[in-house]
Amino acid sequence: MKILSVIGTRPQFVKAAVICRATRNRAEIVHKVVDTGQHYDAAMSDVFFQELGIPAPEYNLAVGSASHGIQTGEMLKRLDPVLVSEKPDWVLVYGDTNSTLAGVLAASKLHIATAHIEAGMRSYNRSAPEEINRLLTDKIADLLLCATPYALDNLRKERLEDRALVTGDVMYDAYLTVREAAEARSASFASACPANEFALATIHRADNTDNPDRLKTLLGALERVAREICPVLLPVHPRTRGMLANLGYEPSHIKIVEPVSYLNMLYLLKRACFVMTDSGGVQKEAYFAQTPCITMRDETEWNETLENGCNVLTGADEAKIFSAALSARRAGPWRAVFGAGDAAEQILQALQGARELTLGPSMVSSSVA
Ligand code: UD1
Repeated sequence: MKILSVIGTRPQFVKAAVICRATRNRAEIVHKVVDTGQHYDAAMSDVFFQELGIPAPEYNLAVGSASHGIQTGEMLKRLDPVLVSEKPDWVLVYGDTNSTLAGVLAASKLHIATAHIEAGMRSYNRSAPEEINRLLTDKIADLLLCATPYALDNLRKERLEDRALVTGDVMYDAYLTVREAAEARSASFASACPANEFALATIHRADNTDNPDRLKTLLGALERVAREICPVLLPVHPRTRGMLANLGYEPSHIKIVEPVSYLNMLYLLKRACFVMTDSGGVQKEAYFAQTPCITMRDETEWNETLENGCNVLTGADEAKIFSAALSARRAGPWRAVFGAGDAAEQILQALQGARELTLGPSMVSSSVA
């Protein structure tokens, strides 16, 4: 069985690493990786391959940054010849980015079977590009691999459950694999981040960064937390860095640093007394590390994390963010909702099973020949 993973952004490098590891010593599976090049800065891409111990992708399409339409269109154009020449049995796509949508669309047009990892996530906010990517990807993909039962319920509401199954979450697999290495880490900024005495923050969603008033409110809230509760560390995504420069913002209490690597992020997440974020992945990683999370969005696709105050939605509301930060230490207990750490194994079995049952070994190859 030949599998081609299409990835392009920071969280997708982590997710695909789990599949790389699971397929590494399996003679019956060939797994190749296409990086669209959506994230291209070394701190956003190369360091993830190094830390996760996965080989460089076989293909890098180097699409870089552009408007959503142009970026997605470029990906489609550059994916086509790769798919025609590789003729995979499966194209695997991950999460909800433009790389996800381009991968599933390019493969479907060539009648190549597709599977979506993290299927069924919904925020029900159609103004977010990620929600459009999720809806379209789940509509097209042949196999919908859900991280949680909640995601499967969402697919049921859209009558897509016939193609779906729950496998557990590959990000949880990744977390378990590197947890010890991450926690034993002595990051260069450790002295600035004593355990349980600082809060970690991230902001990168277009909803938050591209609206100057909303971004100013969030920064005001983080400054207040840093001034009145505990130091705040903000590793800053390039999108946010650009927007902070446009605002002419100079931090007074927040400590701003460059984007951090995967292991350093997990190290910081475990040491922080709470996290303030708008990232889907960080909400989950905070949950895995049992660190209370404050999500500075109006909705989340990871509703499981909201139980027992483990994650609290505040939107861009300074008073709500501050009050959630004051009560964060009372969060928990955390339930095991993201599987058993064997999601990659379950995904490979599902691909193998679906191929034998419904596709037949020759259908995919002959359709792209
Ligand atoms: C993308 C995903 C988002 C995911 C996030 C993870 C989409 C629509 N969004 O958002 O769902 O949570 O990745 O990080 O696919 N930039 C750089 N260097 C880089 C990458 C980006 O400078 O290596 C800058 C560029 O100015 C670019 C901007 O960041 O225009 C946004 O990057 P883009 O890849 O479009 O979306 P993200 O915000 O990273």
